[in-house]
This record gives sequence, structure tokens and C-alpha cells, in this order.
Amino acid sequence: MKARTAYVRSVGRFLPERKLTNSDLEKMVETSNEWIVSRTGIQERRILGAGPGCSHMAVPAAKECLERAGVGPEEVDLIIVGTVTPDMMFPSTACLVQDMIGAKNAWGFDLSAGCSGFLFSLSTAAQLIESGRVNRALVIGSDVISTLIDYRDRGTCVIFGDGAGAVLLEACPEPGFGLLDFILHMDGSGGEYLCVKGGGSRIPPTHESLDNREHFVTQDGRQVYKAAVNGMADVSVRILERNGLTGDDLTLFVPHQANNRIIEATAKRLNVEDKKVVVNIHKYGNTVAASIPLALYEAVLENERDLKKGDYLLMSAFGAGFTWGSALLRWWQS
Ligand code: UT7
Repeated sequence: MKARTAYVRSVGRFLPERKLTNSDLEKMVETSNEWIVSRTGIQERRILGAGPGCSHMAVPAAKECLERAGVGPEEVDLIIVGTVTPDMMFPSTACLVQDMIGAKNAWGFDLSAGCSGFLFSLSTAAQLIESGRVNRALVIGSDVISTLIDYRDRGTCVIFGDGAGAVLLEACPEPGFGLLDFILHMDGSGGEYLCVKGGGSRIPPTHESLDNREHFVTQDGRQVYKAAVNGMADVSVRILERNGLTGDDLTLFVPHQANNRIIEATAKRLNVEDKKVVVNIHKYGNTVAASIPLALYEAVLENERDLKKGDYLLMSAFGAGFTWGSALLRWWQS
């Protein structure tokens, strides 16, 4: 058993008010409510739009998290923002958040791992807490993915939405609880199937790159779908096995919300009952790095789920890169 672990002390979130419904999309591209609901489970998503930036959502999510815990911003040691849509190329959104919330004693950075961004950030922060270098970390997933979506491409525009979720991680007062284990992977050979080609150092913005629509998300949905189902299921089965658990032992399964069919296929492989699977994709679509913390927020604070000390939660994600992983949490509360 690890001598020191990190536990989730508090959660926060931000969702833009503007809703983009399936019927709105029917007016924009050749699609239908029936197709979107049956192929993805999504009914509506939130849109922040260009202008305010990623930090506009990350900051209120972080503030809510701190307020719920009664922790002051100056008590935070570390801020990690999982995002693929930072406010700007640099400085990092973590720096902007640090300044905006007044976390004057924190260091931190942005972490780019697509839809796995939150799990990668959580695991990184947890290890820094385990090492004893950090006592308290804000881990935020925030993406304004709508700024990278081509609203003429029906293959991508129906899926994605904006949002932010945050957790406050702290050193767990009791051993045997908190983030017990994680398994993370990447396979860069899948990069071409889900990417934004332009805007980096390879294709800096030019009139030509704009004309070629290279600053938008491109996706080969079928390739990503197959890899996501296999990746999330394999890694989730493995983490349960190596911790001596089965799907029955889980109180909650909190999967990345990319497609209801991916969630169902993964839950089936894990043998987890439907009622234990946290699903909010119908309301928000795929919010990239915000997806898991938004689902966790609802699991902890809404839906009368009543988490108890000792409950096992499994989180799992798959995203651009390819990146994927699972993290096993044993709930701690005083
Ligand atoms: O978070 C990680 C990143 N992303 C994902 O995990 C997404 C993974 N992939 C998916 O969720 C699914 O592949 C999609 C939802 C993107 C697409 O669903 P699909 O069932 O895999 O559709 P498909 O790409 O195989 O396309 C089937 C048909 C095609 O028409 P044809 O060629 O059979 O005539 C598409 O053109 O559906 C068509 N289609 C649509 N039709 C209506 C694709 N998008 C739409 C649409 N409305 N929005």
C-alpha cells in the first residue's frame, strides 16, 4: 500500500449558457436529430464561442472548487490545466488561471492529451502529491473546442461542446484511499485520425492554411471509434484485475463522454451495471478534457448518488494522440 496518496477533496465546473441543439444543427449541416441521437446519444451541447478563451471557463470552475473546500487560492501549490484549446500559444492557461484566482504560491503548466487531458493531469498531480513535493493541486480540464470546429463538417460539429471541470487534489489523511492506481498509454501512430493540422510550427497560420481549412479538427470517426472502444475497455479491465477488483466492486464508472455507444461497449466489457455508469453526454456532448471532471461533478454533487467513504470509482478516457487510460479512485471523506 502506498504511504501517501492524493484524494479528491472538492469539485467545480463551468458551463457556458448558450445551447446548440440538434435541431439548430439540422439547419446548419445535412444531419438529423434522429441520426445524432441514435449514433452518439447527444441532444445538445454548450458553446462559449471565440473571444473569452479557455481561462474564462477554467477560472470559475477552479473558484467553485476552492470555495466548496473552504481553501484559499494562496494555499494551492500546483495548477495543471488539461486543454487543447489554451487561450494562446503561450503563456500557458495555467499561468493565466494562477493570476486570475490569485494562487500566488502555485506553479503549474498546461497538459495536452486531447480527451485524456484530465486523466493525464490528474495522474501527474497525484504523483507530485505522493512524492511529498506538493500538498494541494488544482487539476482542471477546460476546452473551448467549438473554436476549432468546422461547422460545415457534419462528422465533427455534432459531437463536440465546450465546458470546464476542476478538482482539488490533496494528500489523503488515511492510507488506502484516494487515487490508488492509474494506467496511461499513448500511440502516436493514431495521430492523423484526430488532429488540427494548422496553427502549430509545421503549418503556421497563412491565408493559404485558412483557405484550406487546416485550423479545424479533422477526424476519421470510425478509426477513432474502434481504437476508443478497445483502448478504454482493455485498460479498464486491466486496472481492475491488478487491483483485485471486478465491475461489481465499482460504485461508479465515470467514462469520457465521446459517444454513448463507446460508453456502453466499455461498460459491457467491464460488467458494470447501467445504473453505475455516469452519463451526461446528452446534455454536453464531447467536452474533450472537461468531459470526465464534468461527469465526476454530477456524480459527486447531483443525481443523489451519495458517495460513501471506501466506494470505488473508475475513470477512463480516450483521445487524440492517440492517448488513453484509466484511473482508480477509492473515495475518502471525513
Ligand atoms: O473523444 C475522442 C474523440 N472522438 C471520438 O471518440 C469519436 C469516435 N467516433 C464516433 O463517435 C463516430 O465514429 C461518429 C459519431 C463520429 C460517426 O458515427 P459512425 O456511426 O461511426 O458514422 P460513420 O463515420 O461510419 O458514417 C456513417 C454514415 C456516413 O454516410 P455513408 O458514407 O454511409 O453514406 C456518414 O457520411 O453517416 C454519415 N454521417 C452523418 N449523417 C448524418 C456522418 N456524420 C453524420 C451526421 N449526420 N452528423
